[in-house]
Amino acid sequence: MALTQPTMTETLAASLPNPNAPIGIFDSGIGGLSVAQEIAQYLPNERIIYFADTAHVPYGPRTGDEIRKLTAQAIEWLYQQGCKAVVVACNTASAFSLDYLRDHYGEHFPIIGLVPALKPAVLHSKSKVVAVLATPATFRGQLIQDVVTKFAVPLGVKMLPITSLELVPLVEAGRQFSDECIQILQNILQPAVDQGADYLVLGCTHYPFLKPAIEQLYGSQLKLIDSGLAVARQTAQILLKYNLLRNVKFTDSTQIQCYMSGEDTERVRMVIQHLMPLHVRWNVIKT
Ligand code: DGL
Repeated sequence: MALTQPTMTETLAASLPNPNAPIGIFDSGIGGLSVAQEIAQYLPNERIIYFADTAHVPYGPRTGDEIRKLTAQAIEWLYQQGCKAVVVACNTASAFSLDYLRDHYGEHFPIIGLVPALKPAVLHSKSKVVAVLATPATFRGQLIQDVVTKFAVPLGVKMLPITSLELVPLVEAGRQFSDECIQILQNILQPAVDQGADYLVLGCTHYPFLKPAIEQLYGSQLKLIDSGLAVARQTAQILLKYNLLRNVKFTDSTQIQCYMSGEDTERVRMVIQHLMPLHVRWNVIKT
């Protein structure tokens, strides 16, 4: 059968923004669901495809090149699923990949990234000492350094960087309330409290799931801040700018379709069950 060339109208239709397409959301693991649930609630008409690279989590201890390569593969997968835009719901991946991804896909595939919410913490801190809990790779990246230079330094605010390689695996295992996790949080956060920090920035998308535990330990001393709602608002603005907002009431049964690169889908499903608000409809599939 002879192939027919697409008509001018078909070519134009294929290149037009499609508001009915899903939003792609990516994280190394299940942490980005803290962002996905904010987006699902802020934009209830939107369908979400969430990709968790559970075969390679954690990204935090990896080199910049490894993080960039794994992130590029994940975003290409979401692009191939027909997503209209993508949110890199991972501070670590954003730190090494945003420039590359935006150059690669250009304007017709908007890429929204994350940086720890240091700016609002700096602007509100009374003690002028702000702690940031993030992965070692996020602190090596340029994005957070830029926020320090632009906001913390001019306002005389000291940033205390805090890292732990154990917290992400504990959240992935659903062990955020375990004695081990509480002990680690106490060990790493007490020095920041002793140095006068009044804000703690949760600079990794896994860490909003540690909020109840941290509040129990330091609720009276540290105000917690994360990027979830700000990213949901920014996503709405970007979709509006590119005429990509979906205005039709959402009727499908599943709002967040989660895909996992790892094998253990059942275990991940059980962990997510405890993290997701009841009214957000989701499902898990192996890629
Ligand atoms: N959730 C990711 C972030 O926001 C990092 C987790 C990891 O180390 O893979 O930085």
